[in-house]
Amino acid sequence: MKKMIAFALATIMTLGLLAGCQPAANNAANNEYDLVAAGKLTVALSPDFSPMEFVDPSKTGQDQFVGFDVSLAKFIAQELGVTLEIKPMDFDACQAAVGTGKVDMSISGYSWTEKREKNYNLSDYYYAGENETEQVLITLKGNEGKYTTADALKGVKVGAQGASLQEELVKAQLPDSELVLYTDINTGLQQLKKGDFEVMAVAIGNANALINNNPEAIMSGFQFVVDEKEANNLILLQKGDDKLTEKVNEILAKAKDAGYYETWYEEAQNTAGVDISYDADGNPIVPEDDSTGAADSTGAAE
Ligand code: ARG
Repeated sequence: MKKMIAFALATIMTLGLLAGCQPAANNAANNEYDLVAAGKLTVALSPDFSPMEFVDPSKTGQDQFVGFDVSLAKFIAQELGVTLEIKPMDFDACQAAVGTGKVDMSISGYSWTEKREKNYNLSDYYYAGENETEQVLITLKGNEGKYTTADALKGVKVGAQGASLQEELVKAQLPDSELVLYTDINTGLQQLKKGDFEVMAVAIGNANALINNNPEAIMSGFQFVVDEKEANNLILLQKGDDKLTEKVNEILAKAKDAGYYETWYEEAQNTAGVDISYDADGNPIVPEDDSTGAADSTGAAE
């Protein structure tokens, strides 16, 4: 009898030891501990989406990645007590990297979508300024008043980033337009200038940043219908990574309570060179320039 107990104890201890040594890399549920043990948080982002994440060309290495989401990523790493490693990649690759567990999470201006809800753990919402409260089309100067309705956009080429909310909006709300996908928003803008498509679907904050830095771009005057669910952003984590998701939600709540969102957004806009003031309803007032039709940007379509 004594022998059996001793054997049982030894077995339990061995199992315990084994369990302790087991690499937990593929176990999403242990991710928080993995990254805390590794001392590093890896975050994928696509730095083509100012003011959320973009590149400051005057900097190098990790410092070149700036914007709202970068401030948020830094805060999360700090709260977890680990260092941050940003892994820049294309927007669709960011999502794949979370799916395969190559990175701990992706913070890249994600809106809620049904697909993402199915395939990932989604954090609580965080408020990214007015960036995604409206979804619009931008076009080139000379096209003033041309592309303001779905009817006018029939058969017209519309650019959107692959695997984005904007891709889904074009498919759903402009089914008779011709969708052209690009992987990177900066490349997309070059394609717009080259004439690969007539208009480009972007979030309002991003549109303002693009227009401010590219005098040949203007608002087309068309606006997508946006569900309230899509107006905020969230973080993408691996499906089943519940512990880390919970921790991230706590950290988001802390950032919100401390009022950091507003500061980070303003900072990001300043760095992005967006010079925008807001009217009493919180709508951006785009500065008028002396060319014709520039006032179009405020003529919001219903
Ligand atoms: N909010 C949109 C989405 O969920 C666009 C995000 C684009 N982000 C980026 N870093 N390019 O798809």
